[in-house]
Amino acid sequence: MSQGIPEEIVDEIRQRTDLVSLINEYIKLERRGKNMVGLCPFHNEKTPSFSVSPDKQLYHCFGCGASGNVFSLIMQMENLTFPEAAHYLARKAGVTVPEKKAQTGVESLKDKIYRLNELAARFYAYHLHNSEGGKKAYNYLLKRGIKQEAIELFKLGYAPPGWTGFYNFALKKGAPPDLMVKSGLVSPGREKGYYDRFRDRVMFPIFNISGKIAGFGGRTMSEGDKSGPKYLNSPETPVFDKGNMLYGLNLAREEIRRQKKAIVTEGYTDVITAYQAGIKNCVASLGTALTAEQGRLLRNQADTVVTAYDSDTAGQAATWRGLAILQSTGCLVEVAEMPEGSDPDTFIRKNGPEKFHDLVSEALPLIKYRLQQLKKRHDLTSDKGRIDFIEELMPFLLTAVNQIEQDYYLKKAAEILDIEEDALRRELKKRRSYDKRKWKKEDLSKEIEPQKISLRPEEKNILSLMLQSKEIAEEGRNLLKLDYLDNSEAKKVIEEIWNLSAGELVFSIEKLLNKFEDQQIVSIISEAATNPEMQDITDQTAKRMLSDSINKLHMLWINRKLKELEEKRKSYEARGMYNEANELLMKENELIKHKGSNPDLLGKGGDFNG
Ligand code: CTP
Ligand code: MN
Repeated sequence: MSQGIPEEIVDEIRQRTDLVSLINEYIKLERRGKNMVGLCPFHNEKTPSFSVSPDKQLYHCFGCGASGNVFSLIMQMENLTFPEAAHYLARKAGVTVPEKKAQTGVESLKDKIYRLNELAARFYAYHLHNSEGGKKAYNYLLKRGIKQEAIELFKLGYAPPGWTGFYNFALKKGAPPDLMVKSGLVSPGREKGYYDRFRDRVMFPIFNISGKIAGFGGRTMSEGDKSGPKYLNSPETPVFDKGNMLYGLNLAREEIRRQKKAIVTEGYTDVITAYQAGIKNCVASLGTALTAEQGRLLRNQADTVVTAYDSDTAGQAATWRGLAILQSTGCLVEVAEMPEGSDPDTFIRKNGPEKFHDLVSEALPLIKYRLQQLKKRHDLTSDKGRIDFIEELMPFLLTAVNQIEQDYYLKKAAEILDIEEDALRRELKKRRSYDKRKWKKEDLSKEIEPQKISLRPEEKNILSLMLQSKEIAEEGRNLLKLDYLDNSEAKKVIEEIWNLSAGELVFSIEKLLNKFEDQQIVSIISEAATNPEMQDITDQTAKRMLSDSINKLHMLWINRKLKELEEKRKSYEARGMYNEANELLMKENELIKHKGSNPDLLGKGGDFNG
């Protein structure tokens, strides 16, 4: 489960990380008894169902089922793998994780690519400051208002013009050519040999959320297209996928979280100029329409996402679609309008950060903005104009953050068209299922699906109780037979609890969690361990509740069995197999006697009430 990171390091990271303060970086928690509660960061809700146990260092959401420990929190929150989350927490906690190479002798392809990218960034930075062409590039950056500090912070560089400058350098440093190709820094030649992908360009490293260099964008300094596209980017690699990255997020994250607001721009220079001007909650989508994946990265940090796009891309269909997708992932989207011909970079340089702040604070909610645009664009006196208006508004109404917002704009739209609100509502209903499904398939497939686990209340109780102490777990072992449980996941967990409590003096929920990789099971355990009703009870009460729940399950089990036996017996009888039927009848009587001997089971349900 720890995938290459030594168990004791994982333990140390866990011990040095406090779940409550970690969660406090994302949401506000309030104390409730032994636990803390707050609004779940993984799904939209109005009343808190996200519960955290400081004692057990576990969280569980009673709304969506999300649950786990510090590692799973960061994995879910930041969209990281387990090793990535472990490294992230290690850095925070000041724990040194030994190099993977040293432990296992193998470094993953991804890590190799990151390391090569790091080397490339250093190579490009060196050439920015120490080469003829670099001087030109450096002046270009200065002329664009990008200052030395920003050049360093964003690790900007310059790729020299030759065909093999980086290739030769990397080769000397021991990088194999096929790794250079896999990282997209070098391309195989048509005949033979290799050549650099980036030549004579200003280089912008693109960082992932944890600050590793995932890819590059290289800008030409010449106008016109004689030297290829304005920006040349890394191709898709195992660590670089434009669709799920946001440029600048590694630096902007803290400020986004503080303000609960993110500004999404299009380009590298928008982010850099804004940052320099003190606007530090800006990220860029790198010129492509927004994806659900990016939406998820943002909604984990911000309540509101304001888009500030170049005036010329703002109206494009792909942009609109991206905005709708963004809002569908649960962000409140607002649109800031850039004046004709400008983007945030040019705007800020021309008018200063204050004016940019104004634009951002005047941003309109997405649906309102869409409504205004459509009103301007369509001739509402013609049938065609009215139909197009409705057609193009509907997908946006469907992204409303709640019913109130939807009703509000539905009403507005009905007023504009001068038609009955209900007519529009019926239209909306017709589309709802279709559009949602369509979007889901194409873009929202990576959304977290709420997980629902169906344990009986008694099964939940038994788990919660047995997690209280070794003693109660032992008591459970004496009273409970695994057969009584209906849910196979619960069976596995209880079996593990018994295994662990047999061998250990003190029972550890962490150890238990480590036994399971299945998120469903982790969820069951965390929910059980954080059950608020079980926090302040005495051992005596716990034992009584345990035996009550076990008795109830036992009775249910007997009833299930009886039904099975009865059905079987009847089919024997119907076929004239009386011997077999008789045997079953005896078994049935045995069970009924058993049931009768347990006073707790009398008087409750079933066909055998006295
Ligand atoms: N982009 C790209 N390839 C291109 C053009 C643009 O990948 N051929 C991406 C880049 O990430 C760029 C963003 O789209 O930053 C926005 O494009 P644009 O507005 O044209 O560039 P700016 O960032 O404004 O760059 P500049 O100010 O240098 O013109
Ligand atoms: Mn631009």
